[in-house]
Amino acid sequence: MSPMNTTDKASTAPSSPRVAVVTGASSGIGAATTHRLVKEGYRVHAVARREDRLASLAAATGCDTHVLDVTDSDALMALASTVGPIDLLVNNAGLGRMDAPLAEGTLDDITRTIDTNVTALIVATMAFLPPMIERRSGHVVNIGSMAGHYPLSSATYGASKAAVHRFCTNIRLELCGTGVRVTEICPGRVATEFYDVAVTDPTQREGIKNSGVEEITAAELADTIYYAVSVPAHVNINRIELQPTEQTYGGMSFVAKGPEEDDIA
Ligand SMILES: NC(=O)c1ccc[n+]([C@@H]2O[C@H](COP(=O)([O-])OP(=O)(O)OC[C@H]3O[C@@H](n4cnc5c(N)ncnc54)[C@H](OP(=O)(O)O)[C@@H]3O)[C@@H](O)[C@H]2O)c1
Repeated sequence: MSPMNTTDKASTAPSSPRVAVVTGASSGIGAATTHRLVKEGYRVHAVARREDRLASLAAATGCDTHVLDVTDSDALMALASTVGPIDLLVNNAGLGRMDAPLAEGTLDDITRTIDTNVTALIVATMAFLPPMIERRSGHVVNIGSMAGHYPLSSATYGASKAAVHRFCTNIRLELCGTGVRVTEICPGRVATEFYDVAVTDPTQREGIKNSGVEEITAAELADTIYYAVSVPAHVNINRIELQPTEQTYGGMSFVAKGPEEDDIA
């Protein structure tokens, strides 16, 4: 995907080089986004818990690394003070826990999902916003999911990503007139380590991963994020949904469970 060939907001931003923070940068979409942004001239601060992965990323890209857990709000606030003003925040750290339906799940699955996907994303945005508003320049990219918009079989994960969607719409409204942009990226299946974390049973995991669908690559997702970032300053890409061509949502059917658990279509 080629960025629009017009004035690039980020390139005219006050800092030189442009500075980005990418959370969840130790694998998948975050690592690919770090590679892409460094290639585009950004100084990237890559954030995650796995120190060894961040060290490899730094060796490959020259990014700065910060080993921290995004659910530690104090650590996020301290990071914003250490890093200082930035041009771009990519709130990407996230996970789903999909081992079992809610009624058979654990409290830990719920708190980890909400704390990581929702609370940390809001806290990080709060932490990095004030200098963006002051400079009247900045961009927050939040990684949501198709699961935040369509029914999929993970109630808690879907609820967390629906919260990301509403946060994006409402913070965009709060920020209107400040020059700060907000974009929500909603992927379908992307080939990352996501399902290694989501599903602990190896057989179930392999079944999900080997769906036969050609998945989006993390690099393609990073291209999409960069597209949203690189359009002119007066253009806000509100939301992008992308999915594998051979995967889609919808085709409405009614599911009803009778006394004998028969499906009635
Ligand atoms: N893959 C998909 O099909 C798909 C579809 C829709 C949306 N998404 C979303 O895309 C985002 C990135 O996921 P991915 O697919 O790239 O999966 P991934 O390869 O598992 O990457 C997840 C990243 O989040 C980081 N992370 C998780 N918990 C963290 C915490 N408490 N503190 C700091 N970092 C944390 C992980 O790093 P550490 O473990 O090193 O901390 C890792 O770098 C997530 O928000 C996910 O919900 C993925």
